[in-house]
Amino acid sequence: MKKIILITGASAGMGKEMARHLAQDGHTVYGAARRVEKMADLKQSGVKILAMDVTDEASMIAGIETIVKAEGHIDVLINNAGFGSYGAIEDVPIADARYQMEVNVFGAAHLTQLVLPHMRQQGSGQIINISSIGGKFAAALGGWYHASKFALEALSDSLRNEVKQFGIDVVVIEPGGVKSEWSSIAMDNLLKISGDTAYGNLAKQFSAIAKKANEKNADPIIIVDLVRKAIAAKQPKTRYHGGYMAGPALFMRKILPDRTFDKMLLAQLK
Ligand SMILES: NC(=O)c1ccc[n+]([C@@H]2O[C@H](COP(=O)([O-])OP(=O)(O)OC[C@H]3O[C@@H](n4cnc5c(N)ncnc54)[C@H](OP(=O)(O)O)[C@@H]3O)[C@@H](O)[C@H]2O)c1
Repeated sequence: MKKIILITGASAGMGKEMARHLAQDGHTVYGAARRVEKMADLKQSGVKILAMDVTDEASMIAGIETIVKAEGHIDVLINNAGFGSYGAIEDVPIADARYQMEVNVFGAAHLTQLVLPHMRQQGSGQIINISSIGGKFAAALGGWYHASKFALEALSDSLRNEVKQFGIDVVVIEPGGVKSEWSSIAMDNLLKISGDTAYGNLAKQFSAIAKKANEKNADPIIIVDLVRKAIAAKQPKTRYHGGYMAGPALFMRKILPDRTFDKMLLAQLK
């Protein structure tokens, strides 16, 4: 069945690929982001473009109104917009930490609040939250990013149980490493915040390893296919994971005690 879908963070990385492929599959897709110029190519695939900053309420309200006015309803919200505010917890200014939560958590939650009345009215709908394997474990230097994704995981579980009665479902996608702009933005933040502090050595090691890992990161199509699965399934799973190291990392986190897992993570930085 063809759906009306809104994807945030459609100007780059996996959001852009989701928008392109879901539109090619025949769905009506609205792609939202701040950098509308970066979505010009999506228009050729039939994606409808929305200027939206997930920290700006007016742009979110306007976006939802545009969709409901044009289509009458909205079937799927994909909360994908996000970034990594990296740096040692001692170093990251609290204003930066707040902004991390503002984008990755409150942005997704606010947009969810705006679509739910429409989904309740139609008695169906799906919210797909793009979390991370970093929503299941937390490594050094990514504290606020991990906190934002842990929060998104918790909100998704609560929401799933609240909206089930209305025929609405909530699905979490947990990507591992995926090729996108994410890593360079997060590592630039890391070096800016902690490159010259007491955590400088750790930060430099971390960023060098992230650069190397980037070559091994998965094509975003891996995540597009998980989203396709979640949208098409009669009874979707609550969580899907994919991308570089996603399976092994989640498995290790599940079976290893905290200190053994810590050792494994810190060993990567030596
Ligand atoms: N790549 C990975 O390895 C990886 C792994 C696990 C999870 N994730 C998660 O996957 C999601 C997509 O990331 P990606 O890897 O595709 O990164 P990306 O290439 O950097 O794309 C991020 C998208 O989010 C949008 N965005 C950022 N801040 C925004 C804001 N305030 N308002 C609206 N849109 C905003 C950006 O658009 P504008 O700048 O144009 O607004 C961009 O389209 C994120 O939630 C990320 O945390 C990524």
